[in-house]
Amino acid sequence: MKRDYRQDFPLLRENPIVYLDSAATAQRPDVVIEAEMEFYKKYNANPLRGLYSLGIEATDRYEEARECVANFIHAASAKEIIFTRNATESLNLVAYSYGLSHLREGDEIVVSILEHHSNQLPWRMVAEKTGAVVKYLECDRQGHISDVDLQAAFSEKTKLVAVTQVSNVLGIKTPIDKIVALAKKSGAVVVLDAAQSTPHMEVDVQKLDVDFLAFSGHKLMAPMGIGVLYGRKELLSEMPPFLTGGEMIQTVTRDKVVYAELPHKFEAGTVNGAGAWALAAAIRYLQEVGYEHIQKQELLLTTQLMEGLTKLPYVQIQGSPDPKEHCGIVSFTIDGVHPHDVSSILDADGIAVRAGHHCAQPLMQQIDVMSTTRASMYFYNTEEDIEKLLTSVQTIRRRMGYGE
Ligand code: ALA
Repeated sequence: MKRDYRQDFPLLRENPIVYLDSAATAQRPDVVIEAEMEFYKKYNANPLRGLYSLGIEATDRYEEARECVANFIHAASAKEIIFTRNATESLNLVAYSYGLSHLREGDEIVVSILEHHSNQLPWRMVAEKTGAVVKYLECDRQGHISDVDLQAAFSEKTKLVAVTQVSNVLGIKTPIDKIVALAKKSGAVVVLDAAQSTPHMEVDVQKLDVDFLAFSGHKLMAPMGIGVLYGRKELLSEMPPFLTGGEMIQTVTRDKVVYAELPHKFEAGTVNGAGAWALAAAIRYLQEVGYEHIQKQELLLTTQLMEGLTKLPYVQIQGSPDPKEHCGIVSFTIDGVHPHDVSSILDADGIAVRAGHHCAQPLMQQIDVMSTTRASMYFYNTEEDIEKLLTSVQTIRRRMGYGE
């Protein structure tokens, strides 16, 4: 019998909502909520500090979570895993620490036009402060990056490449293997934003051969406020700290500071022990569901949604016409109706979608739309959810006063 995953999620089980905004944040299953509570009920002390039994337990849970994350993304060592608040903080850590200390005037930073602002603005800041130049890696209207686009973006001056694995607007994957190969040729480091990929596909930092990788826990069902930065040990070891303060030092005298070893050098202040423990629970749950099932269900629903929307002449699907190229994300526009109105009408019908520029305004300019309505699916969504969305979309123009 087909398992009803909604039963694992209190919010979905207890509310009639059609939740189609998982690219913004996923829902949390009981096991994750319980793990966060478990930390506070059973292990609560300040991790990495207390030398009493409870303090050691708290530290152990936190470090077990780090091991779990390292295994999840196939890092060579747990020392390469830094806990942050979210992907944005992880990307800023690399920009402030690596970017400001390694980039110089005239160096080139390649950023794809598909990026979320969180993987553009940190590099624009680095460029402003160092005199380096941001060069955009272009894509076509469907989000495809061609070999010509790739060749045009890279040069012998390229020192850093910041790219997403999956677009949060179009759901398309970037050609990461080709990007890494070109970066290697230029001697540039690669920063991969995996916020939209880790919930949906196996991510192996060693196979991908990237230097840094960032993701947020909340998009893969962990609590908000816990994120991850992976970095190659050789790079992290020689980078200066991002934030300074408690726990990130070995010794402090009046004249000298010796920073802690990895990963603690990059984790100043009290850490999110409960969040890390619950992230490990989310990873275990995700692995139990399995990427194979996740991808199968997402493709089923994406195909159903795209086929339904294609029948409506006043709806334009953004991105590729192939559901396989959407990773569960479908952005669309409706002629004559602003996406904010679309989203409000859908909300009135109990359907949650995101509308707007999705923090990716340069991409919006590239594909020539001001904003879109975005339905983003996860394995807990059902064919009934998509049916309800399609039924509601068919009424929108009429409800806005058009004849059809
Ligand atoms: N980055 C998240 C999104 O695309 C918030 O919705």
